[in-house]
Amino acid sequence: MTPSDVKATLSFSDGSPSIDLPLYKGSIGPDVIDIRKLYGQTGKFTYDPGFLSTASCQSTITYIDGDKGELLYRGYPIEQLATQCDFLDTCYLLLYGELPNEQKQKDFHKLVSEHTMVHEQMQFFLRGFRRDAHPMAVLTGLVGALSAFYHDSTDITNPKHRDIAAIRLIAKMPTLVAMAYKYGEGQPYVYPRNKLSYAGNFMRMMFATPCEDYEPNEVLVRAMDRIFILHADHEQNASTSTVRLCGSSGTNPFAAIAAGVACLWGPAHGGANEAALNMLEDIQRNGGVEKIGEFIKQVKDKNSSVKLMGFGHRVYKNYDPRAKLMRETCHEVLGALGLENDPLFKLAMSLEKIALEDEYFVARKLYPNVDFYSGIVQRAIGIPVSLFTAIFALARTVGWIAQLNEMIGDPEYKIGRPRQLFVGSPRRDVPPLAQR
Ligand code: CMC
Repeated sequence: MTPSDVKATLSFSDGSPSIDLPLYKGSIGPDVIDIRKLYGQTGKFTYDPGFLSTASCQSTITYIDGDKGELLYRGYPIEQLATQCDFLDTCYLLLYGELPNEQKQKDFHKLVSEHTMVHEQMQFFLRGFRRDAHPMAVLTGLVGALSAFYHDSTDITNPKHRDIAAIRLIAKMPTLVAMAYKYGEGQPYVYPRNKLSYAGNFMRMMFATPCEDYEPNEVLVRAMDRIFILHADHEQNASTSTVRLCGSSGTNPFAAIAAGVACLWGPAHGGANEAALNMLEDIQRNGGVEKIGEFIKQVKDKNSSVKLMGFGHRVYKNYDPRAKLMRETCHEVLGALGLENDPLFKLAMSLEKIALEDEYFVARKLYPNVDFYSGIVQRAIGIPVSLFTAIFALARTVGWIAQLNEMIGDPEYKIGRPRQLFVGSPRRDVPPLAQR
């Protein structure tokens, strides 16, 4: 961290002595005030629920400028990565900091494809789930269970273990997600086919059956690859912070990533793509485009708790750059499949237009986020709504593991242990049962 000449001074109105706090400069983005010694010097904590103003770590991986609507992985704009690289190049970049040259690209693709199969015993583990279990419930279990199958990569303090766990997780996630899908469908699992691309292999494992192979459609494979790139990392969001916090205890990488999967499931985070599509289907069932006005009224009503899913973001107070790219892919996929007149897509476009012009959304800087379009694309590809978040988890795994490994390698890393403002009862004695 680069120290700044500027110091922050914290003073108190009760006459307590003021203190100077060091300031550090990032390479871009806001400076941070170092409050690590605050408690020792003042006996006070800071209070910041939801981490609205708190940097929990230093990182070199992903940078977001929410006001500009900019997203950079290792300095490269998401627009360039989405159009000039594939997902495995993006994985390499996130893990190792640079884009691969031709040889490294070849080696990395080979390395990942050598790890796509999962232990055969995994399918018996899967059998313990109900067939109608939510894929995210299944995936949380499967990812956590990897630590029971790959004992030789569970020591987070060993860099070799970290490396191999990273590759295993990236390689096996598509297999696990496809297995979770096939299990729910009651279809046999399809083994990976390593000569296919990462996205192509995933789609084959999803859609092929023993009686019929899957013929990859280039437009759809490219769309899937783009979904993976756009979701690969997003700085210190809830699931990434969960992975870091979980991993900070020294637990194994599979357990830490399983915690990330569990966190991602929530509708305010990764579950938003599923929630956005359910919302569109709901409006469609209840009158379609005609009923948008009524729906928007409910969204704006503070007493209704209805939200326009797929809109708004904690960091982006401008158009989510991923949403722009996903919108483009959405048009391409629907065009390739002849679905431009799909009623749900038309409904989404009308909703987007109305929301972008409405004073409520404009004043609060609520723009469509990536999930608004990714659900439509995935539905068009033939992916069931309940699997959307699992696909997000598949893509985000590389981000989680890159962030986890960065944390473990950081000399300033400590077990995460937030403090609290206690507002409960002071000490009291347990009364006898008859007096309670
Ligand atoms: N629909 C209606 N009103 C909204 C929405 C929305 N989607 N999002 C925010 N608002 C309102 C909110 O009610 C508040 O209004 P007021 O100031 O009058 O109280 C104002 O906008 C600020 O919202 P906030 O809740 O303080 O914002 P936040 O940063 O805490 O929440 C969010 C961000 C993503 C949780 C929220 O916008 C949301 O719930 N959106 C819908 C769910 C969604 O699409 N999530 C996916 C995020 S992108 C994928 C990812 O990276 O995980």
